[in-house]
Amino acid sequence: MTSNSTADHGARLADRIASATGADPRDRLLHARGGWAAGTFTPSPLAPPLSTAGLFAAPATSATARFSSTLGGPHGHDGAPSDHGLAVRIGGLDLVLFTLPVFFARTGADMVEFLRAANSGDPAAVPAYAAAHPEAAEALALAQQGRPAAGFTGLEYHSAHAFGLVNAVGTTRWARLGLRPHRPLPPLTAEEALARPRDYLTAGLPTELPAGFDLLAHLPEGPDEVHDPTRRWTSRQTVTLGTLTLSRAEAPAAEPDFDPLRLPPGITAPLDRLAADRSAAYAAARRLRA
Ligand code: HEM
Repeated sequence: MTSNSTADHGARLADRIASATGADPRDRLLHARGGWAAGTFTPSPLAPPLSTAGLFAAPATSATARFSSTLGGPHGHDGAPSDHGLAVRIGGLDLVLFTLPVFFARTGADMVEFLRAANSGDPAAVPAYAAAHPEAAEALALAQQGRPAAGFTGLEYHSAHAFGLVNAVGTTRWARLGLRPHRPLPPLTAEEALARPRDYLTAGLPTELPAGFDLLAHLPEGPDEVHDPTRRWTSRQTVTLGTLTLSRAEAPAAEPDFDPLRLPPGITAPLDRLAADRSAAYAAARRLRA
């Protein structure tokens, strides 16, 4: 796609997300509730042999992170069933992650179809989406098992896509990237969560810091579908690429324009369609917000 048609495509997707969810385009169309944190990324010695990216060569790189609740808009309840997001800028890399390890759509158009079904108020609509989209089964089953979070920093966050880690001799290893908490927090019951203030996750973030995460590269094996973000992998092999330490709750002077395709040399873009659709939609959503 040319950059004009990418922008048009993104604008159409953003409009459709707004009309499917009823979101006000002056807010983030999704993940509207959330809070900021600042800290540092420190690489592990296992990272440079996999990727030449600058953040794996420098002793430490500063990081800006935003934790978020996906659904419910700016005034929803943090304890309502939802997944959660974590977007982090570390040097030239944006990691835009959430708590499901796989996604329920392969394209932006399918995502809009799902959002329409989920927001229609018709109890038959999501089952109808699931029947028409068998690829959504794993993510929908995991989303149904989801329990309210006790804190943003106790959750594990995943990329869904596989990124190419390119080393000094040009070898590419595809890997899903994720952030695993050093202090996992057990979930709350629905009653406990709904008894807390509406914004308990965002309001509680400063009290959770400092908090650490391992940046993991999850490597596929034989049967794993590398470029299908809807499918779980059988492989459990992970390499720790470094540690993200978020030390303080702090909003940046200028908000990063998070983009899942903002990648440094040494990390290449996912080959699935979803990543390109996301990138275009985020840029368009930001233009609507500006
Ligand atoms: C085609 C699929 C997707 C579309 C169209 C989409 C769309 C969007 C949009 C429009 C926003 C609001 C952006 C803004 O206003 O700044 C957003 C935010 C976000 N999305 Fe997605 N999304 C998709 C898939 C995903 C996936 C697979 C993940 C995680 C693996 C994810 C994680 C996030 C996060 C963490 C944010 C909040 C970013 C922030 O804090 O600024 N999204 N998404």
